Amino acid sequence: MTILGNDSAAVERAAQLIAGGGLVAFPTETVYGLGARADDDSAVAKIFAAKGRPADHPLIVHVESAAQARVFASELPAVAERLMAAHWPGPLTVIVTRAPQIAAAAAGGQGTIGLRCPSHPVARALLAQTLALGVPGIAAPSANRFGRISATSVAHVIDEFGDEMPVLDGGDCEIGIESSIVDCSRGHPVLLRPGVLTRAQIEAVAGVRLTEPQADAPRASGTLEAHYAPRAKLRVMSTAMLRSALEVLGETPLPSRRASTLKLAVYSRTVLPKPHLRHRAMPENPAQAAHELFAALRELDNAGVDLIWVEAPPDGPEWEGVRDRLQRAAAV
Ligand code: TXA
Ligand code: MG
Repeated sequence: MTILGNDSAAVERAAQLIAGGGLVAFPTETVYGLGARADDDSAVAKIFAAKGRPADHPLIVHVESAAQARVFASELPAVAERLMAAHWPGPLTVIVTRAPQIAAAAAGGQGTIGLRCPSHPVARALLAQTLALGVPGIAAPSANRFGRISATSVAHVIDEFGDEMPVLDGGDCEIGIESSIVDCSRGHPVLLRPGVLTRAQIEAVAGVRLTEPQADAPRASGTLEAHYAPRAKLRVMSTAMLRSALEVLGETPLPSRRASTLKLAVYSRTVLPKPHLRHRAMPENPAQAAHELFAALRELDNAGVDLIWVEAPPDGPEWEGVRDRLQRAAAV
């Protein structure tokens, strides 16, 4: 087992591993990241190999401060500066034009780069320690294999990469879904991936409306339709549709032994299925629902069900991040 813990000796050891060109998984407030030094293309190549991720899919570079962001950016548009000042450290990634001499592999060869300053104390300690060792930033995608559900605990990281991967233990991630990504490299800010910050919160700071991604947007695995996929087939259904589908099941005259062979799980807020069906309750509160989302999907998936029926979250803006992740999990 190579869990490094989270005390200062553990962070120091992790920083040395990263400075030496190795990989370390570490907690952030959103999800766990799989980190390598961003200024070393061969270290970054190990991330792509471990994840099975195509090398042209860009990673997010984590920086200790807005000052460090300048190392990776050739220019910071005013809109990016405003967003960074308001939401860093925190669950927001900005895409800006990349400084040409650095982090080509982390950027997936693109001329732009994603930058984020996380708020989790263990991530902050790791960034400070690595910076002291001369590492300008840590490239880190979510710590999951390509196309799979992001990890929000050490157990999930081990589930994905086995227990040989060094991992700093920061407990369960508080937010639970990945950062909001705003592309600031195109003149007008584009929301590439919603997170827990609402559009209104981002727009209030940006001072302009966010635009939707265009078809010509750069390839981004977190923005592929089919992503965050459990092995089971997941379907998102309206409350009414889920209720009537479950009624049909309940009326079917099967002994409960047979019904259990359906291997169906239900993840719902208001609709309660029959007791013989595996059920997990979705919290009523959007922040709590985001916090638990990936753990819930993993738990239901690991139970070996064939189908996961999910009650669609409410329409409100504070549910956008959760709705987005569920839609992607269903789009397989
Ligand atoms: O919360 C998070 O953002 C987590 C934690 C670890 O910080 N990281 C994360 O990384 O979710 P990842 O690699 O799983 O998702 C990053 C997303 C991907 O969709 C990637 O393609 C996109 O950001 N991205 C990164 N750089 C980009 C760029 N230059 N242009 C467009 N998209 C970019
Ligand atoms: Mg990811």
